[in-house]
Amino acid sequence: MKFQAPKGVSEYAPPRSNSFAWVRTTLEETISAAGYQLLELPIFEDTDLFGRIGASTDVVSKEMYTFEDRGGRSITLRPEGTVGALRAINEHGLDRGSLPAKVYYCGPFFRAERPQKGRYRQFYSIGIEAIGTHDAALDAEVIAIADAGFKKLGLTKYRLEMTSLGDAESRAAHRVDLVKYIAALTLDEETKERAKLNPLRLFDDKREEVRELMKNAPILLDYLSPESKANFEEVQRHLLAMGISFTINPRMVRGLDYYTGTTFEFVHELLGAQSGIGGGGRYDGLMGEIGGQDITGIGFGIGLDRALLAVEAEELEIPISFASDLFIIPIGEAAKSAALKYAAELRSNGFKVELAFGDRALKTSMKAADKSGARYSLVIGETEISSGVVEVKEMSSGATNSVRLDSLASALR
Ligand code: HAM
Repeated sequence: MKFQAPKGVSEYAPPRSNSFAWVRTTLEETISAAGYQLLELPIFEDTDLFGRIGASTDVVSKEMYTFEDRGGRSITLRPEGTVGALRAINEHGLDRGSLPAKVYYCGPFFRAERPQKGRYRQFYSIGIEAIGTHDAALDAEVIAIADAGFKKLGLTKYRLEMTSLGDAESRAAHRVDLVKYIAALTLDEETKERAKLNPLRLFDDKREEVRELMKNAPILLDYLSPESKANFEEVQRHLLAMGISFTINPRMVRGLDYYTGTTFEFVHELLGAQSGIGGGGRYDGLMGEIGGQDITGIGFGIGLDRALLAVEAEELEIPISFASDLFIIPIGEAAKSAALKYAAELRSNGFKVELAFGDRALKTSMKAADKSGARYSLVIGETEISSGVVEVKEMSSGATNSVRLDSLASALR
C-alpha cells in the first residue's frame, strides 16, 4: 500500500520548504519588531469555543473538523486563531496587565473547504491580536504591520481594502433597514435562514442573481454613528500619513462573524480566485462572548501558503541562501571520525556544514557536494590527517586553497 497525503493539505518538502520557512520567519520578525509576543496555542479546542466565530459563517456551519475524543468531549481542530487566542489571553490573565496585550501565533489551521490552488483543508497562518485598547492609531498600526510584512517579502502587486462595521448603534440602525430590504426579495429558504443569522452575509453571496438583488441594498458605511465615522476617518489619516494606500470597499464581508469597526483585507493581484493573502479587523464583543472581560481587540491573520504563492507569482528572489558553507568528503574510517569532529566544531562556530556518507566513489561524492549548493568543499583522507592540511575548493570557481585543518573556521570566514 502506497500512502498519500490527505486531500487538500498543504505540505512543504525541500527545496520549497526553505522558501516557506523564509516567508514565515520574515513575517514573524516583522511582527515581533512591533512588540508582539508568541502565544503557542493548542491545535484543538472545545467545539463550543469555535462556535463563537458565528453560526452564519461557512467556517462554523460546514467546515469544522469536529470529533469526539476518547472521553466523549466534542473537540474541533482550530479553523482560525482569534477565539483560541482570546481564550488563552483570558485564561492567563494577560488582559489584566498593561494594555493592549499583544500576542502572535503561527501554525496549521483546518477548514474542510473544497481544495484548489491557494485553498487547503490544512493551511498555515500567522496572526496577531492586540487586546483591550480602543485607539484608531492601534487599528492603523495593526494594518501597517501586515503591510510591512508583505513589503519585507518584496511583494508589490497587492492592495488593501477596508471598511468599517461601526459600533453597535451603527450596526443596529443599518440592520433594521437591511432586514427590511431583504424581506422584500425573493430568496430560497436556506439563504433567508442565513440572512436571519447575519444579513450582511448576503453581500458575500457568490451567486450572480443574489448579487444583482443586493445591488441597491443599504450600505453600513452610510449608517455609521458620528463616533464610528470619526474613528474610521482617523484610521485612514494614520495610514495615509504612513504612506499606506487603500481602497474603501463598503461591501466587504469577512468570512467570520465577530467583526465590528475597522475591517480589512489584503488582496493579491496575481493569485486568481484565492487572492486574500491576509485580513482582519476589530472585534468589540468577542472577549465577553467567550467568558472574558467586556474588552475590545483587533488583529489579523496572514495566509502563509498564499503569501508564498504571491512571492512565487511575482517571481521574487529569496534573499538568503539555504545551502551549506562547507561540504566535507571523508575517505576511510579515520577520516570519517576527523570529519565528524571538524564539522561539529565548525557548526558550533556558526557555519553550516554537511558531510558525505556511505563510502561512495570520490566522483559521486563530489557530485553530491555540487548538488548541495555548498560554497566550499574539501576531501579529507589519511594524507590530510597526517599533514594537518586540506585543499579547500571554492565550488563556483573550482579554485583551491591549502588550509590548515585547525584554522578552517578563520579560513572560511
Ligand atoms: P481569515 O481571513 O479567515 O481570518 O484567514 C486569514 C488568512 O488565512 C486569509 O487571508 C487567507 O490568506 C488564509 N486562509 C484562510 N483560509 C484558507 C485556506 N482554506 N487555505 C489557505 N489559506 C487560507 C482569520 O482567520 C481571522 N482569525 C484573522 C483575524 C485575527 N482577525 C482578527 N484577528
